[in-house]
Formats: sequence, structure tokens, C-alpha cells
Amino acid sequence: MDTNDREHIRLKNGLLLTLRDAEPDDAERLLVYVEQIAGESDNVTMGPGEFGMSVEDERVYLKQIAEIPTSLYLIAEIEGEIVGTLSFSAGRRPRVRHVGEFGTSVLRKYWNLGIGHHMLMYLLDWARGTGIIRKINLRVRVDNLPAIHLYEKCGFVHEGRVSRELYIHGQFVGVFVMGMELDPK
Ligand SMILES: CC(C)(COP(=O)(O)OP(=O)(O)OC[C@H]1O[C@@H](n2cnc3c(N)ncnc32)[C@H](O)[C@@H]1OP(=O)(O)O)[C@@H](O)C(=O)NCCC(=O)NCCS
Repeated sequence: MDTNDREHIRLKNGLLLTLRDAEPDDAERLLVYVEQIAGESDNVTMGPGEFGMSVEDERVYLKQIAEIPTSLYLIAEIEGEIVGTLSFSAGRRPRVRHVGEFGTSVLRKYWNLGIGHHMLMYLLDWARGTGIIRKINLRVRVDNLPAIHLYEKCGFVHEGRVSRELYIHGQFVGVFVMGMELDPK
């Protein structure tokens, strides 16, 4: 396939990236993915073995996410391999239903190919399409320069800094809070 659409993107190295919603049957592969990311990056909120969800827990979670119109669990795949994820959840009650936070990651060997950017573009398009989401927030380690660059490039603005948000390898690390206000489509 040579045409790009929201779900099928030809990357700059020629590989075809597919973006799709996670399904309950992805549970086992997602746990393997999460474990790999936890071992590859200190920029996520868990280390190896710390996720604490069984395959069945994950399956139930994915089923719940799929049923909530303001939740998204996006999987990025290349040749059938999960290479990245982005998950977003909004509040459940009327006063916080319009606002949510996301987390994202890409396998290290696929960094800097634009996968993070394409997942974010998908998120923004999806969020506008809900007609409900009006604000997207994120937290990013203050020293995570590639992620900060990516978020700024996509239009997120800095809204503040929280100290001691993470404790990793015996040290506290702060995060920037960034956000984007959305108008519906
Ligand atoms: C952050 C992350 C999701 C980005 O994914 P990705 O697919 O590499 O993202 P992209 O390729 O779309 O964009 C990366 C950008 O960072 C830039 N970059 C790379 N290293 C950089 C650095 N040291 N300083 C500033 N920018 C840098 C790249 O040039 C690219 O920008 P460009 O497209 O304008 O050239 C990925 O690095 C990752 O999974 N990191 C570990 C987990 C993580 O940090 N998650 C985010 C937590 S908030």
C-alpha cells in the first residue's frame, strides 16, 4: 500500500506502519511489549517486572477501554509486531469528562522514524472526533528531550512543573505538565 491515511503510513525508512485500536485478544502481546519498554527506558513510570497486571487483568482492562467513548488504546504495528502504543483516558464524571491524559511509547529500535508523531496526530484527530474531549494533558520527565520536542512540535504547551514526581535509581525526577486545548470538529 502506497497511500497514507490515518491508519496506514509509509515511514521514512520504507516500512508500513499500521495504527489500530487494541482489542482484548492483544492482552498477552501487550504485556510482552510493556515489559520490553520497561526494560528499555527510564522515561516510563515502571521498571521491569513492576507492571503487576495478569493477562486476564489486561484483557478485562482492554475490553473496558473499548467500551468507553472517551478512552483510546492505540497500537502501532509494523509487519505484525507491536512497536508502539498510546493510551488516553478521560474522567468519568460530567465535570471532568472533557479532559484526559495520555502516555505513549515506541520500541527503542524504531525511535526517530515519526511513529510517535503519527500516534499523536491520530490521538488529536480521534479526540476532536469524539465531540467530548476538549483538553489533553500529559506529564513528561524534565530531561526527556525527544519527547518534549515531539510534544512541542505537535502543539502542546508547557503548563507547569511538578517536582519529585518519579523516584528512579535512587533519585527524584521532576516532570513538566503539558497540555492542549481542543475545539471540536
Ligand atoms: C518519546 C517517544 C515516544 C518518541 O517516539 P518516536 O517514534 O521516536 O517519535 P518521533 O520519531 O515522531 O519524534 C522524535 C523526535 O525527537 C527528536 N529527537 C531525538 N533525540 C532528541 C534529543 N536528544 N533532543 C531533542 N529532540 C530529539 C527527533 O529528531 C524527532 O523530531 P523530528 O521529527 O522533528 O526530527 C520515544 O522516544 C519513546 O518511546 N521513548 C521512551 C518512552 C517515553 O519517553 N515516552 C514518553 C513519556 S512522556
